Amino acid sequence: MRIAVLGSAGQLGRDLVTRLTGEVLPLTRADIDLANPHTIVNWLSTNKPDVLVNCAAYNLVDKAEEDPAAAFAVNATGVKHLAETCQPFGIRLVHVSTDYVFGADTSRTSPYRETDTPGPVSKYGESKLAGEQTALAVPGNLVVRTCGLYGVWGSGGKGGNFVETMLRVAGQGKPLRVVADQRCTPTYTADLAEGMANLIAQGTTGLVHLTNAGDCSWHEFAAAIFALSGISADLTPITSGEFGAKAPRPGYSVLGSERTSETGVQERPWPEALAAYLTERDKRRP
Ligand SMILES: NC(=O)c1ccc[n+]([C@@H]2O[C@H](COP(=O)([O-])OP(=O)(O)OC[C@H]3O[C@@H](n4cnc5c(N)ncnc54)[C@H](OP(=O)(O)O)[C@@H]3O)[C@@H](O)[C@H]2O)c1
Repeated sequence: MRIAVLGSAGQLGRDLVTRLTGEVLPLTRADIDLANPHTIVNWLSTNKPDVLVNCAAYNLVDKAEEDPAAAFAVNATGVKHLAETCQPFGIRLVHVSTDYVFGADTSRTSPYRETDTPGPVSKYGESKLAGEQTALAVPGNLVVRTCGLYGVWGSGGKGGNFVETMLRVAGQGKPLRVVADQRCTPTYTADLAEGMANLIAQGTTGLVHLTNAGDCSWHEFAAAIFALSGISADLTPITSGEFGAKAPRPGYSVLGSERTSETGVQERPWPEALAAYLTERDKRRP
């Protein structure tokens, strides 16, 4: 199987390319620019892989609120062009989406399943919802919704990841104020990549939720980072209102799956994944 991976220089893409079975073609924006339909048609019609995995996205959530057109060009229109170009060549599209397609139901306290109706609260969430819908309109495609990614490569666009930001700021002796009213499941990209590689190998189609197990607030996650690292940090819980981000975030966006028994893919609890990440990052430091 020839599997092309767009966004291969991103934190998920980098972890995925080393875990796929088959011939892997790592792609970047230089090969396909999602905001430029000609590059999509040119590359796919020339190379015709069996599977195209899209790990690329416009994922600057706050910037998307001010410039929704930029987010929609990549996350909605770009993915529509991908899906429409893949279909006639028989290329299976595997697309990555987000827990931020939820959040409108402010009374929610139980994990969202694949069959739950989405309702985003931000422009980024709206753009990702539009993209996943066009991907799922083609039978045989797969959309994997995930949440709160952190990986050893960090997100280029976001300048790292949450864990590294916490450790850096605490290392500078500065106080940390972290939101305690957003609950989700931070997910290690190595675990997600392993799970996605299994789904791709077994030909899973449709919509699948895949995150580490359990849930926490970002404040609880930060506290766990410091506890596992043996660091005593000046950490204070705050509300989203106090934090004052431009884009609204879901208060609760934990993802559960009703497809686990069918796919056999189940991720480990987030504290175990965080401990594994901290060990891995320490191995890589000079
Ligand atoms: N990060 C999270 O917390 C999170 C949570 C839930 C879901 N997700 C989803 O998970 C997926 C992977 O996220 P990630 O954290 O691995 O992202 P990432 O590390 O920021 O990587 C995103 C990649 O997308 C590429 N890209 C951006 N615009 C592009 C365009 N117009 N054409 C082609 N490539 C483009 C970037 O390339 P350049 O370096 O050239 O810009 C970058 O390599 C995305 O679909 C994201 O929406 C992420």
